[in-house]
Amino acid sequence: MGFVIAVDGPAASGKGTVASRLAAHYGYPYLDTGLLYRAVGWRLQTNRGDLGDAAAAEAIARALDVSELEMPEVRTRAAGEAASRVAVHPGVRAALLDLQRQFAAQEPGSVLDGRDIGTVIAPAAQAKLFVTARPEVRAERRWKQLCGQGETVAFEDVLADIRIRDERDSGRASAPLTQAADAVLLDTSHLTIEAAFDAARRIVEAARAK
Ligand code: C5P
Repeated sequence: MGFVIAVDGPAASGKGTVASRLAAHYGYPYLDTGLLYRAVGWRLQTNRGDLGDAAAAEAIARALDVSELEMPEVRTRAAGEAASRVAVHPGVRAALLDLQRQFAAQEPGSVLDGRDIGTVIAPAAQAKLFVTARPEVRAERRWKQLCGQGETVAFEDVLADIRIRDERDSGRASAPLTQAADAVLLDTSHLTIEAAFDAARRIVEAARAK
C-alpha cells in the first residue's frame, strides 16, 4: 500500500477542494468517492427506480460504469440527495468497496475523500483528516456552487438539504459519517481555500514525518 491520505467530512465542508489540492501537491491520484454514490442514485432515478429499493440500487452499484462519474448530472443537487439515500443500503456500500480499496492501494500514494475513508475504506491510511465547517458556511458554499452550475435554488433550501444530509449520513447504521479516532480535525469555517490547504498540508507533513 502506498501513502494513503483519507479526507472525510460532511457535505460542502471543503474536503473536495482540500483533497484535490493535496493530490496535485503530492502527485497522487485522487478519487471523490461521493461521485460513486451520486452516479448510483442518478442512474436509479433515471431508470425510474425507487431510491429505497436496496436490491435495485445494489445491482446498479455492481454494474457501475466509471465513465458516468464524469457526467455533469451527477454534480446536481438532486444527485446529491439521491446519493445520500442510496448510500444507506449496505449492499450498495459493499458493491463499491473493492473499487475504492484498489484505488487506495496504488503506489506511491493516493487521496480519497468521502464519509468513511478513514473508518472503513482505508482504516490503515497514514494521514487522516476530518474536514468540517458550520452548516451555514457549508450551505453558502454549496449554494454558490449550484448557482455557478446554472441551478436556480434558494439558500434556505440548500441549508435545509445540508441539515437533512448531515442527519442521514451520520445516523445511518452502515458506515455512518464519523471522525476516525486517529483523524485530525480541520474546521474550515473561517479559512480561505489557501489557508485550508496550507493547514491540511501541515497535517499530512506531520504524518509523513512519523
Ligand atoms: O460528498 P458528496 O456530497 O458528493 O456525497 C454525496 C453523498 O454520498 C453523501 O451525502 C453520502 O450520503 C454519500 N457518500 C457516502 N460515503 C462516501 C461518500 C459519499 O455515503 N464515502
